[in-house]
Amino acid sequence: MKKDEAALRALAEEFGQGHVFAFWGQLSTEERAGLLAQLDQVDFPLMDRLARQWVLDQPPAEKFKDVIPVPALPVATKSDPAAREAWEAGEEQLRQGRVGIFLVAGGQGTRLGFPGPKGCYPIAPITERTIFQYHAEKISNLERRYSCVIPWYIMVSDTNEAATREYFEANHYFGLSSQAVTFLRQRMVPCMDEKGRFMLEAPGRLAMNPNGHGGCIPAMVENGILDDARKRGVEMLSYFQVDNWAVKVADPYFIGYHALRGAAMSSKVHRKNSPREAVGVHCLCDGVYQVIEYTELDIYPQLLDTDANGQVVYYAGNPAIHILSTDFVQSTYDRFDEFPWHLAHKKIAFLDGAGNLVKPDKPNGYKFETFVFDALRFVNHPPVALEIERIGEYTPTKQFDGDNSVVAARQSMSNLWGGWLEKAGCAVPRNATGDVAVPIEISPAFALDEDEFLACSSGRAWDAAKGLAIDADGAVTYPS
Ligand code: UTP
Repeated sequence: MKKDEAALRALAEEFGQGHVFAFWGQLSTEERAGLLAQLDQVDFPLMDRLARQWVLDQPPAEKFKDVIPVPALPVATKSDPAAREAWEAGEEQLRQGRVGIFLVAGGQGTRLGFPGPKGCYPIAPITERTIFQYHAEKISNLERRYSCVIPWYIMVSDTNEAATREYFEANHYFGLSSQAVTFLRQRMVPCMDEKGRFMLEAPGRLAMNPNGHGGCIPAMVENGILDDARKRGVEMLSYFQVDNWAVKVADPYFIGYHALRGAAMSSKVHRKNSPREAVGVHCLCDGVYQVIEYTELDIYPQLLDTDANGQVVYYAGNPAIHILSTDFVQSTYDRFDEFPWHLAHKKIAFLDGAGNLVKPDKPNGYKFETFVFDALRFVNHPPVALEIERIGEYTPTKQFDGDNSVVAARQSMSNLWGGWLEKAGCAVPRNATGDVAVPIEISPAFALDEDEFLACSSGRAWDAAKGLAIDADGAVTYPS
């Protein structure tokens, strides 16, 4: 039940946050309603605990005695009988309609700085098709292949829900059934200054941020998504992040390993390029499955070790690709109080006591988030971690240029698809470093993988001299 103004004022006072009403007298009716709605979703005792534990105290990080690399399954190949068995089991799960897709797209996308949801970013260099469209085309291919409907759950937040919904409606859900696409909103949490006080970004608005991708656990339960999935017969959710253009959505190998091993939560891992690569690492910490963040590398210097061949010993980087069984989501929700929170020191614009907006030039406050990989500590089966190659599976898009960028993702996808074209007998220009030198796009609705591409290409000749984009129906567009 919604709390009224008096109840919210009392709570705010009780927890030392009464200042959020400082400009109440100046607010319009709508602004007052907006502020009360924000305060109504605040878990005051939780925020008080976080302020005391992390902002005011800043305790040293948890330290494990025994940290070992997680044992991972090798990259799945057709020639490996175990992988082949997993593939067949995964295909069967898809045919039986036991798999749903869970996309986390509620982040703020600050580093990319695109004015809109990250999924609406026109990632494809020639056709400017968006990341959302690629995800949708992959799902439509799988539905065709396995004669099934795959429910797609998309987590959004206050920051991008309206724009995301509008985008899907305007594009007719890219041919998917609108009944099978469900948006759910994650919770927001207040930002805090260095004294643990909530911050106002406008006289009637708290500075808040989405509660992290770990917020998908409560969001699934509290928005009825878990019930919906179960009613549809879904037993596991293929989880990925919106900014991974290359992701293999509902990969049968991965689903198969998860199903055959009766896993609660499974993960893909990729080999780290260098000891200090900015990526979390899958480890066993005092026997418990955890992902150690790259910001904690100096607490565990052994994570920087390399072997005689220069390979990183703690190799298993985290591409944020998981499968979660629906029962596990429920049991994790029941223990969500034990979920760790992570804080980030950030520059947060705020109103000073006189009501002036201050844009700080150095970090002045904290954002709190939960991370989905922290659910791994609750699994009680041996780790199911499947190693992947990055190409064709992982292209994080955090910024425009540099590491983990749009530019790098485009190169990686041109390399992948250029390789398919070469296998189909097409000459593809490459530069001195071996990278494909022209933009290439292949719609996943046309071909999801190399085998399918070669089958669809039979009897066709492609001209990739200047690059090309192949559409869902095989039509070709050339760069202008
Ligand atoms: P990131 O942590 O990379 O954040 O999220 P971001 O929003 O994409 O970008 P920055 O950090 O502001 O630059 C990884 C994935 O988790 C989702 C994002 O949408 C992205 O798919 N996410 C993140 C959420 O769904 N909710 C959150 O609260 C945070």
